[in-house]
Amino acid sequence: MKNIKIALPSLKEARSRKNNNIETIRYRLDNKYNSLGKGKTYYIFTYGCQGNEADSEVMAGILESVGYTLSTDPMNSDVVLLNTCAIRENAEQRIWGVLGQLKGRKRENPDMIVGICGCMPQEENATQKILESYDFIDLVFGTHNRDHLPELIYQAYLTKAKVVEVLSNEGNILEDAPKVRASHHKAWVNIMFGCDEFCTYCIVPYTRGRERSRAKNDIINEVKELVKEGYKEVTLLGQNVNAYGKDLAGDYTFGDLLYDLDKTGIERIRYTTSHPRDLDLKTMEAMRDCKSVMPHLHLPVQSGDDEILKKMNRKYTYDEYMTKVNKLKELVPEISLTTDIIVGFPNETNEQFENTLKLCKEVGFEGAFTFIYSKREGTPAAKMEDNVSDSEKHERLNRLNEIINEGYLKGHQRFVGKTVEVLVDGESKNGDGMMCGYSPNLKLTHFKSSDLSLIGKTVKVKITEAKTWFMIGELCE
Ligand code: SAH
Ligand code: SF4
Ligand code: F3S
Repeated sequence: MKNIKIALPSLKEARSRKNNNIETIRYRLDNKYNSLGKGKTYYIFTYGCQGNEADSEVMAGILESVGYTLSTDPMNSDVVLLNTCAIRENAEQRIWGVLGQLKGRKRENPDMIVGICGCMPQEENATQKILESYDFIDLVFGTHNRDHLPELIYQAYLTKAKVVEVLSNEGNILEDAPKVRASHHKAWVNIMFGCDEFCTYCIVPYTRGRERSRAKNDIINEVKELVKEGYKEVTLLGQNVNAYGKDLAGDYTFGDLLYDLDKTGIERIRYTTSHPRDLDLKTMEAMRDCKSVMPHLHLPVQSGDDEILKKMNRKYTYDEYMTKVNKLKELVPEISLTTDIIVGFPNETNEQFENTLKLCKEVGFEGAFTFIYSKREGTPAAKMEDNVSDSEKHERLNRLNEIINEGYLKGHQRFVGKTVEVLVDGESKNGDGMMCGYSPNLKLTHFKSSDLSLIGKTVKVKITEAKTWFMIGELCE
């Protein structure tokens, strides 16, 4: 297949991006694409974080606005997009696997457009591999140009050539794009994009561009609109939401945004992800004062050892993390804390790992995503020598998970006998006449009912039993 190389990624450019003015793009569809997808179907496979899920909702909105409809047979759609994640090697392995499957389908149906987008194409190595080894892929684009989707598809149809457009710039802010949201009662709301932290192990600052905040009025108006449409819960998204506003003129902060969003009438506000260094008193006070801000905080610590934290470029110490946690517990006594932890960072000693275990016990996390360090080409940590064996890394992960799993159970046990408000998501996966939803502390709660009209409503449930991964309760009349 012939290649149209419009733009290829560059980690070097991504690293040295400038403090340029960030452009806000107000999405307008060019009439030329109005019926691009008439009578055709699409499907988007989404991997990675909530940021990617929110991006997929925008891409679905754009595709539907030009006439595509959601396919019931994903692997046989007219357009198939893979919205990818590059955070760890195993995330990428999964995607190569799905691409293998799609290759066969494309052979049977050469008119199908296969596109790969999101974070993986932003990496030079990955895009090189895509171009060299996956010749059947029609579209390659990154995280900065999903608004170009109609044009990219149009070019792929027109030229029958591979269309590649991966920008490695500081990124833009896309407003007014159509969205097809996955839920009718819970919504993602981006408040900022990108990341400027450059933790030494992490690829995100390279794949997502500069930290850039949406204007507060655009966010507040989006939430007001969601309230009008009947949405009950919003999750504010950003890689480091606590840095919200730092790139804008004035001194409006994330805490101010929480106070303002509380006034919109939305029932529940959650947010992710927080960076411990930037979590400030005003945010904690907003968690105390605003009824809609839920008593759960995901506060990734990564490690409990000061030297490792320094090598990770996390910019806080064990004690500074604990000081913030203790302040938060004082202001919001009922809070549930969860975290992210990496084990086996290059040359992590057993003693350093034990400091992580100590911190977990001291905080009393009620959940965590735990990972074995994965080397990401182009990041500073990739150049660090690593003498920790694979078996040692796995053993540490198991020891950590034992403590974390106890935390999950304890986090559920503390609600036994209490009545909690559950925003109902739907029927429980295991069938058996149960329904489920989440409590304010983000505890998955199952209760007996088959009343589908409860979906999207908040009900009172008395908790009768605590398991490691969920709670069980009885619906209060
Ligand atoms: N912005 C968020 C989360 C980003 S990615 C934050 O700063 O907390 C989600 C998690 O993936 C990180 O918190 C980290 O624990 C993990 N992670 C990131 N890069 C990794 C790597 N190279 N190897 C293993 N885990 C990694
Ligand atoms: Fe990655 Fe650190 Fe940014 Fe989180 S804060 S996205 S871990 S660089
Ligand atoms: Fe993955 Fe990109 Fe999110 S690397 S975790 S999809 S920002």
